[in-house]
Amino acid sequence: MEFSRIFLFSCSVLLLCSSLAYGQAKSPPAPVALTPTPTPTPAPAPAPEHVNISYLLSVAGPFNTFLDYLESTKVIDTFQNQANNTEQGITIFVPKDSAFKNLKKPSLSNLTDDQLKQVMLFHGLTKYYSLADFNDLSSKGPVSTFAGGQYTMNFTYKAGTVGLDSGWSITKITSAVHSTDPVAIYQVDKVLLPEAIFGTDIPPMPAPAPAPDVSPTADSPAEDSKDSNSPKSSPSKSSSHRIMNLGICSQLILAVLGGVVLVF
Ligand SMILES: *[C@@H]1O[C@H](CO)[C@@H](O)[C@H](O)[C@H]1NC(C)=O
Ligand SMILES: *[C@@H]1O[C@H](CO)[C@@H](O)[C@H](O)[C@H]1NC(C)=O
Ligand SMILES: *[C@@H]1O[C@H](CO)[C@@H](O)[C@H](O)[C@H]1NC(C)=O
Ligand SMILES: *[C@@H]1O[C@H](CO)[C@@H](O)[C@H](O)[C@H]1NC(C)=O
Repeated sequence: MEFSRIFLFSCSVLLLCSSLAYGQAKSPPAPVALTPTPTPTPAPAPAPEHVNISYLLSVAGPFNTFLDYLESTKVIDTFQNQANNTEQGITIFVPKDSAFKNLKKPSLSNLTDDQLKQVMLFHGLTKYYSLADFNDLSSKGPVSTFAGGQYTMNFTYKAGTVGLDSGWSITKITSAVHSTDPVAIYQVDKVLLPEAIFGTDIPPMPAPAPAPDVSPTADSPAEDSKDSNSPKSSPSKSSSHRIMNLGICSQLILAVLGGVVLVF
């Protein structure tokens, strides 16, 4: 008599539990459960690391002005394409936002679209150069840029510091934003102005070289991307719930049965 009551009870607990578990599993029309899981296809061959230049420039810097110009002139596509598809790779010199603010005398504002595009292309070299490579490059005389033959720059290399001379802009590399073959991105102090657009009638070194123009704190190494990709955990939630429910139920039933054994 006593036994059958307990037996009945445990049976109903089991029934209740399994229907609960079933209900739980069913209630949210879980897309995970419904879509047929594709049979594990062989993982695609690990593609060579794709360097997203827009992304790099948007998280370092700030290089927003430069990035805006790259996008409005579509030069970003030229650069990204070179990074994607060539053996030689690419080297890009990026001025910070403050460099564009400091650009007063020859300004970019009265350039035609085509000239602006050339100025942006002038900030790239059609090959990947590590910082050490500039030692060699500095002895080569005028180096052509992405903008073409007459858009040249001279480099200097002194005690590990890379100097750039476009005629109009004399500046240096202040930090490496990215330098892994095939993509090098270096921060420079000034916007690079080509003689091919602005002419060779360069005013003598802007006499005023007072401190206020250059803030000494300015150039810290580029910030690293903060949380480039936070791993997303998405194991099937509903199934783990179900397993837990069943686990609790079976423990309950075991306890009840244990009680039965004890009683008899
Ligand atoms: C590159 O990054 C930009 C900005 O983060 C993003 O809008 C764009 O979709 C990315 N492109 C590729 C091909 O990943
Ligand atoms: C560069 O490669 C990425 C990833 O393969 C692709 O999404 C992007 O469209 C490519 N961009 C260019 C300009 O080739
Ligand atoms: C831009 O305007 C200035 C005068 O305001 C002129 O000297 C300069 O040549 C112009 N630049 C171009 C590229 O037309
Ligand atoms: C580069 O240097 C050469 C001399 O070696 C000079 O003739 C030329 O004007 C310079 N070009 C620039 C853009 O400074």
